[in-house]
Amino acid sequence: MASDNLEITSIKEGGSLSVKDLDVSYFMGSKNLLPACKNVQFDTKYGESVGILGESGAGKSTVAYAVMGLIEPPNVATGQIIYGGKNVLAMSQQELRHFRWNEVAMIFQAAMNSLDPIATVGKNMDELILDKGVVHSKHEARQLSIKLLTTVDLSEEVYKMYPFELSGGMKQRVIISMALATNPKILILDEPTTALDTITQFSVLSTIKSLKSEGRVGGLLLISHDISVQAFMVDRIMIMLKGLVVEDAPVKVVMENAKHPYTQVLTEKLKIDSSKKSAASPTAASPMNGCPFANYCPYAMSRCWDEVPPLITIADKHRVACFLFGG
Ligand SMILES: Nc1ncnc2c1ncn2[C@@H]1O[C@H](COP(=O)(O)OP(=O)(O)O)[C@@H](O)[C@H]1O
Ligand SMILES: [Mg+2]
Repeated sequence: MASDNLEITSIKEGGSLSVKDLDVSYFMGSKNLLPACKNVQFDTKYGESVGILGESGAGKSTVAYAVMGLIEPPNVATGQIIYGGKNVLAMSQQELRHFRWNEVAMIFQAAMNSLDPIATVGKNMDELILDKGVVHSKHEARQLSIKLLTTVDLSEEVYKMYPFELSGGMKQRVIISMALATNPKILILDEPTTALDTITQFSVLSTIKSLKSEGRVGGLLLISHDISVQAFMVDRIMIMLKGLVVEDAPVKVVMENAKHPYTQVLTEKLKIDSSKKSAASPTAASPMNGCPFANYCPYAMSRCWDEVPPLITIADKHRVACFLFGG
């Protein structure tokens, strides 16, 4: 149905991101700032899928908001997020408007509930496409919407349906297709399948994976607390705990040869004393004076409570923040 000039282009280059010394704090009233992530540092390159893994409150979404330039006063983001030679944190509103959607698009947590319930899927999509200036006529918007729906393995019929007529998986596919409308080079997905049952979850994830391998997006940044989702989807996983990156390694290394005791717990290579676990929640916001895992770690030394271990490179593409490995 769609004409060929509306071909969804494949991304051949771009999409690399360099995050340096990123600190984000949320304003909590009067003079209180709550640190949500600290000293976050990572690079992604074209073609890479990178995961951010960690439990609720670890700071995963905060990193994504910062990358999108969405941390606004009175909240504070410092450091550098370099994309195309520019620091996102220093971009003007005009530059940000282009950057968001055209360069990097984000699917927010629970985005599938954001479809306008009283408009058809087609109307939801056409409006976005016209609003972002991807095409300029209703006719072209319709053609592109239908093409996008088929890209995420939905039938053309979905165009005429209302959101309440769709299953959760279908709604999430619609949202993914909308994020592709502007041909973003990087797609950030925040817990994209958390609300879905397991089978649907992996079916939607498979579609995202194919979009990536077909070059429809140049890079993925996937936020998920679920290690099986990460292992299925990404090349490399960064593990966050209490706002800090504690380990960053290729998936295989994370699954088989993780070094940080917290990652070993996540991958079930290490059991921790559950009586210690109740002492304090690792997700509770607290000043980051020492290692975020010190209270639970069977190997903790006194300095682990006094100093934050630096994230050091211990092998090719493998970084860990733990005094057992130096620093
Ligand atoms: N808008 C906000 N205002 C205040 N605190 C926030 C806000 N968003 C997140 N936080 C806090 O920042 C920390 C990290 O949150 P978040 O990035 O959402 O973690 P995650 O995505 O890993 O669950 C948490 O302590 C959370 O309560
Ligand atoms: Mg989150």
